[in-house]
Amino acid sequence: MEIVVSLQANVDNMIAAREIVIEKIAKSRLADVSLENIPFGRYFTDHMLVAEYADGAWQSVKVQPYGPLQLDPSTAVLHYGQAIFEGIKAYRDAAGNAFVFRPYDNFERFNKSAVRMNMPPVPEEIFMEGMRQLIAIDKDWIPTMKDHALYIRPFMFSTDAMLGVRPSETYTFLVILSPSGPYFAAPMKIIVEEQYTRAAPGGVGFSKNAGNYGGSLLAATEAKKKGYDQVLWTDAFEHKWLQEVGMMNVFFMLNGVAVTPSLEEGTILAGVTRSSVITVLREMGIKVEERRVNIDELLAGYGKGQLTEMFGTGTAAVIAPIKELKYKEFAMEMNLDKAPVQQAVRAQLAAIRSGAVADVHGWMWKI
Ligand SMILES: Cc1ncc(COP(=O)(O)O)c(C=O)c1O
Repeated sequence: MEIVVSLQANVDNMIAAREIVIEKIAKSRLADVSLENIPFGRYFTDHMLVAEYADGAWQSVKVQPYGPLQLDPSTAVLHYGQAIFEGIKAYRDAAGNAFVFRPYDNFERFNKSAVRMNMPPVPEEIFMEGMRQLIAIDKDWIPTMKDHALYIRPFMFSTDAMLGVRPSETYTFLVILSPSGPYFAAPMKIIVEEQYTRAAPGGVGFSKNAGNYGGSLLAATEAKKKGYDQVLWTDAFEHKWLQEVGMMNVFFMLNGVAVTPSLEEGTILAGVTRSSVITVLREMGIKVEERRVNIDELLAGYGKGQLTEMFGTGTAAVIAPIKELKYKEFAMEMNLDKAPVQQAVRAQLAAIRSGAVADVHGWMWKI
């Protein structure tokens, strides 16, 4: 059965409204799934949001039963890769209320990715309010168990069925939802990447486009063969200036200061967790420097006993400890029994998500 409701968003103080068609599944699949400890990204909820762009405007918006898409073999994205995505999490707080963590930041980052990939921005009422409607319909899929979450994956791709290399004129935007169990961030062994490059100035490193991930897989596979969990990406010219650790932003505690690579070169994804960690660190009275940082500075700090912690940050793991960083023949080892900064930040972010401490920044977006 289809019903039609209105999506509204307060865009520049103008209320934008759009009709959304809702077609519900006949019988929920939830009864057949246990949400406890389920692996990341394998199970999907009953519904998905689908919006179509054509003739210079967003056309239909629909919540429909989750299921396969049909694509013409010439569909542009399969050949030229105009594809972007986001990763967001919804949680339940201690009282059982459903919240999404900082989705507005992901919405803004999504549209920055869209502009860089020559794709149309998705309006707020489709991205934010469409997502809210979808989660509300599938809210019983948000796990209630500790450290479980509902992973939200908005994405968009080009759909022209035509083998010419040019920006597509049609696009599809979707949101799918995947309940996931606790993500245990095992301490990582990382190797500094000196052969492959993830991003260079003027490129697409700051955007969350699919090609960045396809292009990074070989480096990660080769690192694994050498016994490392991930690579620490470096600049394209000298392979010395540090960028990101795998698919996470990276922080170093150097002489009591939290140092993280700066964003202005456009080679790093502006992580929402990175931004939250910077805020929390400053509130804890720890100085944060967003700046260029190179491997020689880390080696020198390590030699003097001033490099005390390293960790990655991202939506999946939140804080992922680094136990070893390898550069050429030299291994910098961290004592994770003495990692008070990352432990304190992790605890503070968990407390904000659970409602144990006040959400003074308005990070928790209620469904
Ligand atoms: C390349 C890359 N860097 C950093 C991050 C961390 O970003 P966030 O904290 O928004 O998840 C991600 C994950 O989204 C990523 O894919």
